[in-house]
Amino acid sequence: MSKRQMIIGMHLGNGYGALAEAWRMPGVDPRAYTSFDAKVRQAQAAERGKFQFLFLPDGPHAAGGDIRYEPSGFNLDVMMTLAAVARGTERIGMVATGSTTFNEAFNLARHFKALDIMNHGRTGWNAVTSASPEVAANYGQRIPSSADRYGRAHEMIQIVQALWGSWGKDAWVADPETGEYAKDEEIAPINLGGEFVASRGPLYIPPSEQGQPVIFHAGGPSPNALSLAGRYASGFIAAAFTIEEARAQRRAFREATERAGRDPDEIKFFPGLMTTIAKDKRAALDRRITLTGRMFPQRAMYLQQMLGVRIDPARLDDPLSPEQLSRAHAAGGDPRAVRALEVARDGWSLRDVLAHGVIDYQPVVVGPVTEVADHMQEWFEAEAADGFWVIPDVYEGGLDAFVDGVVPILQERGLFHLDYEGTTLRDHLGARPQYGVDARVTG
Ligand SMILES: Cc1cc2nc3c(=O)[nH]c(=O)nc-3n(C[C@H](O)[C@H](O)[C@H](O)COP(=O)(O)O)c2cc1C
Repeated sequence: MSKRQMIIGMHLGNGYGALAEAWRMPGVDPRAYTSFDAKVRQAQAAERGKFQFLFLPDGPHAAGGDIRYEPSGFNLDVMMTLAAVARGTERIGMVATGSTTFNEAFNLARHFKALDIMNHGRTGWNAVTSASPEVAANYGQRIPSSADRYGRAHEMIQIVQALWGSWGKDAWVADPETGEYAKDEEIAPINLGGEFVASRGPLYIPPSEQGQPVIFHAGGPSPNALSLAGRYASGFIAAAFTIEEARAQRRAFREATERAGRDPDEIKFFPGLMTTIAKDKRAALDRRITLTGRMFPQRAMYLQQMLGVRIDPARLDDPLSPEQLSRAHAAGGDPRAVRALEVARDGWSLRDVLAHGVIDYQPVVVGPVTEVADHMQEWFEAEAADGFWVIPDVYEGGLDAFVDGVVPILQERGLFHLDYEGTTLRDHLGARPQYGVDARVTG
C-alpha cells in the first residue's frame, strides 16, 4: 500500500502576503495589488513546489484592517486573477471562492466551468454562503438567516452541478466531414427550481479534462457547514489552532461525509498555516517584529486578556515575572490562549511572545525550515490534517523559502509527493469522477 501523503494549497490573496505590513517590505512592489504578473509569478513558484492547489478567498468586500495602512486581503477579482494564472501555469489546481448567497446559479456555473476549460480541469469552487453584512451591503441586501443561506447553498450547488452536466459528456461531435456539430438530444435543459434558486439551462459548455470543477467549502464545524460539506465537498478549508481541535473538526467532517452516503476519504481537511521562515529562530522572530510590531501595543492588551494577568505595554522587552507566570492561565475561552501560555512559559520576552504569532487568525510557525516541516508532520501524522493551506508572511521571499526549504524536507521524509501524478485538480486530490449532480446526495 502506498504511504499517505499530504496535500498542500497556497493562499493567493492581495499579492503581498499574510501580514499587514508585507506591502512595505524591501523587495516587494508596493503596488503588487493590481499586478496580475505578480500573482502569476506567485502561482508559478507554488507550482515549482508541486503544491496541489491555490486557494483564493473572497468576500467580495474589503477584508483587512485600516485601509490607511493596510491593503485589503482579497484579490481584485478571483476569476480574472485565475484566468491570468491559468495561462501562466500547467499543473497547479485553483480553488476560487464564489458566494452561494450573492450570485445566480447560471453565472457561477458558467464562470467556473469556463475557467475549468481554460485551465484544462484544474478548477475548484469554494462554495461559501457569505456571513458578513459588509458583503450583503455591496448587493443592497441584508444577510439572510443561517437556515436560508444554507438552504440556498444546497440548491445552488445542485443546480450549478446540474448545469455543468447539462452538456452531455459525449455530445460534442464537431465533425466537419459529416457536418454534425453536436448531439442536440444530449444537450438538454435542466428545468430545476427550488425555494431559492432556479435555472432552465442548458449551459453550453462541454466537459473539461476533469469533467467539471471540484467543490470546496471553508469555515468552521457548525451543523449547517457539516451538512453542506458532508454532501458535496472534496476539500475543506479550515481554521484550527491546536492538533486536538483540528483532529476533532476533521473527524466531524469525515463523519458528516459518511452520513451523507459518501466515503469519509472523499473529503480532505486542510487547516491553515502561516509561516515566517528564516535561518534560525531569532532571525525569524525579528522578521516578524519588523512585519507586525506596529500592532504590538494593541495586541499586548489582548494578550493580557488571554493570559489573565496585567501586562504593561511599555515593558514588552521583559518576560512575564515568576509571580505573573504562577497566575497566568488560558483565560477567556480563546483557543489560541493555550499556545500563548506555552510560549510565555518558555521565558520569551512579551515582544517575542507576540512575534510567535500567538494572536493571529491561523496557527503560525516562526522559525527555520525544519520547524515548519516538523509542525506539518506532527499534525499530519496525528490525523489532524490531510494537508494544509499555507500563507507565507510575504510572498516575495517567503514563498521561495517554503518551496526551496520546507518542501524538500517533506519530500525526503516521504510526506509529500515528488511530482504531480496527474494533470487535473481531481487527480491531485484523489477525488472521484463526477459529471453533473452526485446522485448519492441529491435524493
Ligand atoms: C479558514 C476560513 C476561510 C474562510 N474563507 C471565506 C471566504 O473566502 N469567503 C467568505 O465569504 N467566507 C469565508 N469564511 C467564512 C465561512 O464560510 C463561514 O461563513 C463562517 O465560518 C461563518 O459560518 P456560518 O456561515 O455558518 O455562519 C471562511 C472561514 C474560515 C474559517
